Amino acid sequence: MTLAIYPGSFDPITKGHLDVLQRASKLFDRVIIAVLTNSTKKCSIPIEARLELIKGCCSHMPNVEIDSFEGLTVDYAKHKNAKVLIRGLRAITDFEYEMQMAQMNNTLYPDLETVFLTTKPKYNFVSSSIIKEVAFMDGDVSKLVPENVYNYLLKIKKEK
Ligand code: PNS
Repeated sequence: MTLAIYPGSFDPITKGHLDVLQRASKLFDRVIIAVLTNSTKKCSIPIEARLELIKGCCSHMPNVEIDSFEGLTVDYAKHKNAKVLIRGLRAITDFEYEMQMAQMNNTLYPDLETVFLTTKPKYNFVSSSIIKEVAFMDGDVSKLVPENVYNYLLKIKKEK
């Protein structure tokens, strides 16, 4: 029974994240998508809403669970007894940061292996921050995020 964790901010989840999650769910018996609550990055979407949005678009993957955590990812992985950490790789620009994290995590917890998965090329440029920037300036991101996320972004934009 191989358990993988897929940690991130998911502020909000995009179709790129979902693509990575779907690939991971085919490779591993169980996958926990783990949302960091105390990110050093300032998140725009409250944790409860980020979790709710993930719940709303992952129900078709029966071996995927949703959780939140705070503190170090390696401590969360140890707590769950997970030996695999999933990260998505988009472009070469992700590589340096991702390699640094993977090697630091493996130094802190040598049993933990980071597995990088790529997305479909059509999502290569998609990030949560670019999605929010475009959506809040009335750009159409409907093809790049799940429908519930699109509706949520429209709603919070109206409330601003
Ligand atoms: O989606 P993101 O924001 O790129 O995810 C980054 C995340 C949450 C995986 C990373 O910041 C993280 O692991 N944070 C938890 C604190 C931690 O373990 N820091 C050391 C990483 S080597």
